[in-house]
Amino acid sequence: MIYTTILYLIAFLLPFAAAVPHGPPGPKPGKHHEGPKNACIATSIHDFSWSLSLEYHASYTFTTPAHQNSWGAVSFNLTNPAVDKKLGTVNCRMDSNRLTDFFYGDQWYPCTASEPQVAGVLPDTQFRFFTHTRFDLNQTWVCNECLTAKKQKPVKFAALATTQLEMKCTDTSWVNPNWTFGSGAFYSTRDVKCEPVKLNLKPYEEKLLL
Ligand SMILES: *[C@@H]1O[C@H](CO)[C@@H](O)[C@H](O)[C@H]1NC(C)=O
Ligand SMILES: *[C@@H]1O[C@H](CO)[C@@H](O)[C@H](O)[C@H]1NC(C)=O
Ligand SMILES: *[C@@H]1O[C@H](CO)[C@@H](O)[C@H](O)[C@H]1NC(C)=O
Repeated sequence: MIYTTILYLIAFLLPFAAAVPHGPPGPKPGKHHEGPKNACIATSIHDFSWSLSLEYHASYTFTTPAHQNSWGAVSFNLTNPAVDKKLGTVNCRMDSNRLTDFFYGDQWYPCTASEPQVAGVLPDTQFRFFTHTRFDLNQTWVCNECLTAKKQKPVKFAALATTQLEMKCTDTSWVNPNWTFGSGAFYSTRDVKCEPVKLNLKPYEEKLLL
């Protein structure tokens, strides 16, 4: 699967490779030109992986034995090495109050662009999270390096990834031994905090969007 994808990519990109050195004469390449140092397409194709740092935090507060205010939050930084460093790093956070594990892997959550003026240039990122156990990623990104050659569209990639997580967490509980109704004190609290997991994430599927 991955090999056919890559062969397909190479076949598709050969015309670009041929076109770039013979780009239009005259004015210097515009600001979209990224040059060989930042070869977005090459990085997207050859042994591509994101770097991910992900953490999880949950807090359970019982104000009475029967009433709780609880939430869980997953947050991560994800860097796509093919895209300009500033634009290629996505900071994402999602809060949930779906008791009691908060994330069940049944929903794709979007990461919203931190800089609205460059939305559309930023990688479009969606994720699923299974508390403590799994992270799924769906990202599309654009390589602009062919824009200087006329009549060529930006090259857009789409990739999917999944990884098992081994999270190291602390789980701290406290129950108020003297709790009485109307005292205003909490009945109990529980705090689950997981250290950031850092890993390189490879796509299991990557393709060009035409
Ligand atoms: C993400 O990056 C921000 C800013 O550098 C940092 O404060 C935060 O702790 C990072 N989060 C993770 C999960 O690594
Ligand atoms: C990935 O996201 C794109 C939109 O950004 C969507 O069209 C596509 O269906 C998604 N793929 C999966 C497997 O969810
Ligand atoms: C609970 O009550 C006992 C007896 O009155 C007292 O010794 C203890 O400090 C109290 N504990 C808390 C957490 O208030």
